[in-house]
Amino acid sequence: MAQPLKQLPQLADLGFAPLGPGPINHSRPRASGGPSDAICDIGAVTQPTCVVEVGSWQGRSALLWGRELAARSSSWTLICVDSWLGSDRIRRLTGGEWGIENLHLVDGYPTLYSTFVANIRRADMQDHVIPVPLDSAQGLALLHSCGVVADVIYIDAAHDYESVRTDITVALALRNPGNPCALIVCDDFGPNYPGVVRAVLEHARRARLRVLLRDQQAALVPRDAKDAIAELIRRGWVEQSLTRRKFGFRRRP
Ligand SMILES: C[S@@+](CC[C@H](N)C(=O)[O-])C[C@H]1O[C@@H](n2cnc3c(N)ncnc32)[C@H](O)[C@@H]1O
Repeated sequence: MAQPLKQLPQLADLGFAPLGPGPINHSRPRASGGPSDAICDIGAVTQPTCVVEVGSWQGRSALLWGRELAARSSSWTLICVDSWLGSDRIRRLTGGEWGIENLHLVDGYPTLYSTFVANIRRADMQDHVIPVPLDSAQGLALLHSCGVVADVIYIDAAHDYESVRTDITVALALRNPGNPCALIVCDDFGPNYPGVVRAVLEHARRARLRVLLRDQQAALVPRDAKDAIAELIRRGWVEQSLTRRKFGFRRRP
């Protein structure tokens, strides 16, 4: 299996390195919850040592990926690409997990990144997590230019069609060629995010991938990864038609 980590020195030359030890801003909220069952299933079928997450927010899903990676190997890497600036949608929400308050604006500028750092260090994952504070298109292109490959690319940044389409395009090129089960997962696949649905289905048709769903997570799985597909279905994932509007349908394992 190709070693996904060998390009890390190239990233370090550009200033992208594991977070490492440092202060924790204890006033920042703890991240918890998230799609833990789906991430556990994806971990089981891809056996990842390197995951690229696109859209990390306060670190909730990053902690789930970190636990999944750490359960398999002591040598793992999670690369988190995020502007840590939020989005137009977040600017319009108040209260709760996705509210504007969580941006912690100082002089009008978000300091959300401090929350992410606090959560990664609280979980003692600072030596494995590499933050890439760029917009997703630039961040993913940069990883590709450095030759980074990953077993899973998890996409949960901007949710409009153009952004998701671009994110998936570059993510396809980041899949670890040494792992036949390497795949992309997109969050928020469902009627509330038609742009995500359209981009996922278009890419799946074009790249001849199968789409499996669980808890609004859409896995874009290589057709040849038959064992992985069977295992996901056994675990309760349902296959999404690439042409039908209806969301998800059951297929026998
Ligand atoms: C829905 S949140 C991610 C949630 C996270 N995956 C979790 O489960 O907690 C979306 C994140 O994407 C980031 N984001 C939005 N648009 C982006 C873009 N174009 N490039 C990079 N990051 C972006 C926002 O800053 C925000 O942190």
